[in-house]
Amino acid sequence: MRIDIITGLPALLESPLNDSIVKRSQTKGIVTIAVHDLRDYSDSKHRNIDDYAFGGGAGMVMSPEPIARCIDALSEKRRYDAVIYTTPDGATFDQKRANRLSTKENIIILCGHYKGVDQRIRDKYITSELSIGDYVLSGGELAAAVITDAVVRLLPGVLNDETSALTDTFQDDLLAPPVYTRPAEWRGMEVPPVLISGNGPAIEEWRMEKAMERTKIRRPDLWEKFNQQGDS
Ligand code: ADE
Repeated sequence: MRIDIITGLPALLESPLNDSIVKRSQTKGIVTIAVHDLRDYSDSKHRNIDDYAFGGGAGMVMSPEPIARCIDALSEKRRYDAVIYTTPDGATFDQKRANRLSTKENIIILCGHYKGVDQRIRDKYITSELSIGDYVLSGGELAAAVITDAVVRLLPGVLNDETSALTDTFQDDLLAPPVYTRPAEWRGMEVPPVLISGNGPAIEEWRMEKAMERTKIRRPDLWEKFNQQGDS
């Protein structure tokens, strides 16, 4: 898979993309992530990438030309399956969208900034607009890092234990059950005995029970969805 991220603030993406699992997946050659500095596509003397909003009002708008040049240059090299724009008014990113994106070959993520991008870029190039939640960040870079991380960890070969992404919270509309590690007794608190019983089916049953219990209490919306699965 290849992910091209277009941003006016490339430094914001350095650490999230160059550490831990995302870094390892690049080193292993499972994913190529390229960050493109929008200012390199500006033809203004000061490498500007924004301008005043027509009609007035506070806040700058990202200019269309540098973005179009960057997307055009990338599209000359390969075909893109999705051109995503990170914006608080987009559809909410969730595990299902992460799963879907992880099956794509080449994607572009355009990071929004200021008051957003000129609408004509959205109309002409963007295939999906994604928000990572109902709050406003200073820019779309952190959202792009979140989306990239959630997608990359799903790619085959990224996680050591191939099945571990399948047991993630949300993967089957349930929150994950509690987990424990050594020591079995810690400061007077004991690990649930079933987990050290060696009884595989009983452990699975306990985990399912706890996952359902947690979901019911913490996320009634997911619980409802989980229960509807069997009905359709
Ligand atoms: N840019 C600013 N806030 C955002 C959000 N919540 N999601 C995606 N992009 C954003």
